[in-house]
Amino acid sequence: MSNTAVSFKNVRKSFNGATNHAIDNLSFDIPEGEFVTILGTSGSGKTTTLKMVNRLIEPDAGEITVYNQSVEAFDVNQLRRKIGYVVQQIGLFPHYTIEKNIGAVPELLGWEKARITQRVQELMELVQLPYEEYATRFPRQLSGGQQQRVGVARALAANPDIMLLDEPFGAVDAITRKELQAQIKNLHQRLEKKTFLFVTHDINEAFALGTKVMIMREGNLDQFDTPENIIRQPKTAFVKQLLDTVYAEEEIWRKYR
Ligand SMILES: Nc1ncnc2c1ncn2[C@@H]1O[C@H](COP(=O)(O)OP(=O)(O)O)[C@@H](O)[C@H]1O
Ligand SMILES: [Mg+2]
Repeated sequence: MSNTAVSFKNVRKSFNGATNHAIDNLSFDIPEGEFVTILGTSGSGKTTTLKMVNRLIEPDAGEITVYNQSVEAFDVNQLRRKIGYVVQQIGLFPHYTIEKNIGAVPELLGWEKARITQRVQELMELVQLPYEEYATRFPRQLSGGQQQRVGVARALAANPDIMLLDEPFGAVDAITRKELQAQIKNLHQRLEKKTFLFVTHDINEAFALGTKVMIMREGNLDQFDTPENIIRQPKTAFVKQLLDTVYAEEEIWRKYR
């Protein structure tokens, strides 16, 4: 039997002054080891959902658990150590070398120097940035895609069980994005039992990467299933409409080939 890594039960959230709910009544269970992509239009509540997992946002109602423990029962620092977090504006420390950026959290945790170095080397290898070449560089000396990989390595540094990624490849060009997608998928496969929650508004990205896809609309969950099941049996008119956008594009590309 597999563990449940993240669970939401009747979660609600409105922001000050808003009449409608940013998150309406959200319930789901994510088994350990899944690569869940969260897909939805802008404003559908994807970022809010992610930020409630690591308590950057507190829900108004409902229960959120991480490995069957309420997130409120965790010490917030301890919770965030279990959970890596990567966003589009990675926010690497500009005056730190790549090595220092990746080792920042272990250093904060008081790891011994040799252990930090070893961990940084391991992580740089994992995200395919050779240590000898990149460790002493500064963020500005890396391309956007390479910086994004450093962001992923940094988030993995303290060996979190769960990774939250909020449109991590939103700001890179299409070819780099494809490469990063292949790498993150491969990374997830190699890191056994790590659970990824990956937000994107790109339907191709969501279906290419997700072992399960969560489709959100206006603070609600329309469908949460494997890509195959969603494609075979779209549950709502909105999901059908989403899939139709891809099928329509397919025709454009086929037309002149
Ligand atoms: N800090 C905030 N204050 C007020 N409203 C917010 C805040 N964060 C998000 N919202 C609103 O909540 C809804 C969901 O936002 P968000 O989760 O960021 O959507 P997504 O990431 O899917 O684009 C939107 O209507 C947004 O305007
Ligand atoms: Mg967002």
